[in-house]
Amino acid sequence: MKFEDIILTGDRPTGPLHLGHYVGSLLNRVTLQDQYKQYIMIADLQALTDNADNPQKVRDNVMEVLLDYLSVGIDPKKTTIFVQSMIPEIAELTVLYLNLVTVNRLQRNPTVKAEMQSKSYGETVPAGFLMYPVSQAADITIVKGTIIPVGEDQLPMIEQTNEIVRSFNRIYGKEVFPEAKALVSKVGRLAGLDGKAKMSKSLGNAIYLSDDADTLKKKVMSMYTDPGHLRVEDPGQIEGNMVFEYLDVFDTNKEKVAELKHQYRQGGLGDVKLKMYLFQVLNDLLTPIRLKRAELAKNKDAVMQILLEGTQQVRLVAQKTMDEVRKAMHLNYE
Ligand code: TRP
Repeated sequence: MKFEDIILTGDRPTGPLHLGHYVGSLLNRVTLQDQYKQYIMIADLQALTDNADNPQKVRDNVMEVLLDYLSVGIDPKKTTIFVQSMIPEIAELTVLYLNLVTVNRLQRNPTVKAEMQSKSYGETVPAGFLMYPVSQAADITIVKGTIIPVGEDQLPMIEQTNEIVRSFNRIYGKEVFPEAKALVSKVGRLAGLDGKAKMSKSLGNAIYLSDDADTLKKKVMSMYTDPGHLRVEDPGQIEGNMVFEYLDVFDTNKEKVAELKHQYRQGGLGDVKLKMYLFQVLNDLLTPIRLKRAELAKNKDAVMQILLEGTQQVRLVAQKTMDEVRKAMHLNYE
């Protein structure tokens, strides 16, 4: 059977979105919404798998993430945005998928493994956390998603989803689900302000799309450069220098960046001056996003309405999928 291409993607609402999300997946989603049917899910249930004691945080960040989506240009007329917990069919499908996955396989999922280590879970990992990749497979397949624009840390989730899809189709004898393909951006992974490999909320090294200009300036001024570059006239290093990494990603004026690199290497370009330049570049990018966000935030009821309407649409699709699943699994009693 030939399946139509459908985009399904999403984020956990554990904090507002940052520049890593922007280059890693948001830009792709803004471009792709013109070419494909696109669904974007706010994964509140997945956020609870390691925040069970903090439901208010998750609740608050559903609105933050929703505002981030709309202010970067995700258009609800083109993209259906929905919230995971209001689609009970996802939970139902997760239960059915759990029989197709071993605990051992989940423990070997590289992303889960890394997260378990960073949270020092060990043997005390919540069962819901360990199995969240199964629930993610249900997120993707409930709308028969085939294209998944995500950051590269999500590749193991797509692999695990496809294993489940293949098992399901093999065992229940029907081509019910298509396999999914991850779509990773050219930038791959954006490093943090401190030079650590990844920008992330938990590492405290992120620039948020919602940061005001002062906060942005402070963060840029704190960025990791060349620790050996002490005086303006000293020659400096470009490699591992976060300011240049960010200029490479965000400055469209490549000639200017090449010129700055040359000057920095030679000596005579101070860190403060260089950072002020990067601040301008980032501030030009973020100002329109910030303005749109402030405008939208004046009417949060209307913004919430967008989420609820998108969710209603997805429920219809999800019910249809579950009808097919029940039939394939001989669970259609009426
Ligand atoms: N795991 C993703 C993250 O942490 C969020 C997510 C949940 C997701 N369900 C998804 C991403 C389905 C893509 C497809 O960012």
